[in-house]
Amino acid sequence: MSKVKISSKFERSADCVLYHGDCLTMLSGMPDNLVKLIVTSPPYNIGKSYEKTLGLGEYLEEQRKVIRECVRVLHDKGSICWQVGNYVNKGEFIPLDIVLYPIFDSLGMRLRNRIIWHFGHGLHASKRFSGRYEVILWFTKGNEYTFNIDAVRVPQKYPNKKYFKGPRKGQFSCNPLGKNPGDVWEVPNVKANHVEKTLHPCQFPVELIERLVLSMTDERDWVLDPFMGSGSSVIAALIHNRKSIGAEVMPDYVKMARQRILSAEKGDLRIRPLERPVHDPNAHGTNIPPRLINLKDGGAQPELFETLAKYSTRGRG
Ligand SMILES: C[S@@+](CC[C@H](N)C(=O)[O-])C[C@H]1O[C@@H](n2cnc3c(N)ncnc32)[C@H](O)[C@@H]1O
Repeated sequence: MSKVKISSKFERSADCVLYHGDCLTMLSGMPDNLVKLIVTSPPYNIGKSYEKTLGLGEYLEEQRKVIRECVRVLHDKGSICWQVGNYVNKGEFIPLDIVLYPIFDSLGMRLRNRIIWHFGHGLHASKRFSGRYEVILWFTKGNEYTFNIDAVRVPQKYPNKKYFKGPRKGQFSCNPLGKNPGDVWEVPNVKANHVEKTLHPCQFPVELIERLVLSMTDERDWVLDPFMGSGSSVIAALIHNRKSIGAEVMPDYVKMARQRILSAEKGDLRIRPLERPVHDPNAHGTNIPPRLINLKDGGAQPELFETLAKYSTRGRG
């Protein structure tokens, strides 16, 4: 991609829209049926610095307004991925995916997966088990939707396994392009020593969003994050030559998102590579270094495909 054309309000000719303000205002100025993927982590209503704490009913009503607008701007073959944790009220847990599901259902959205995002670090609880996962609700607008599974396959556990009898005896028994990653994803969350850490308190790891972008959109499709924060979804989209839109109420976070894009243009934005295994203190494997993003290199992620090509059994034996 040559220089990224960044606009501060929605414009079809932009590569990237960084809107400073309320997402509902931005959404109201966008056309119907445009965006291929809407991926976001909304405020959880747990008293973070950027949110006012509302009663649960009021919170859900606010969410309904945003979700209704998201459904309107969503392309007919598009997807919404709403990533949430729990609302905690005086120590009692309310899983947000459970209370948000009826809103999507009432708007005609169809649930495709309830993806468990599992991570190893977080607060240590003393009166219950420590929380180590959050949820991504993946909905589509219709039954026909973009889904490029080959772009996100992961290595098979036993890639060299062959049929030992029958008409396919001697042939590889598993897909040489890798396996479907399933619906439980182990991705480290962005804590203090993560290579992508900014001042934002709850950033998406870019690799989490890359998997959604690669599988649910095609090049030059639009990707939208109505609660953009530090711009991780926007970065994941631009890396793969998609157009992106983010809205954010806090001016410092909008600046941070812009800074991250400029850094990716210069070639010095570091992100955790998709193919790096989760740290295992007992293993002495190779440590895959952070990936330096350079948007001028032309976007699409080479590493995953390179890894798959190395791994691929096609052409062997
Ligand atoms: C959970 S954080 C998202 C973090 C983001 N995923 C990232 O990678 O940095 C939610 C963000 O939504 C922003 N926000 C809250 N209400 C908003 C609104 N009405 N419109 C736009 N942004 C909003 C907050 O300031 C916060 O940065």
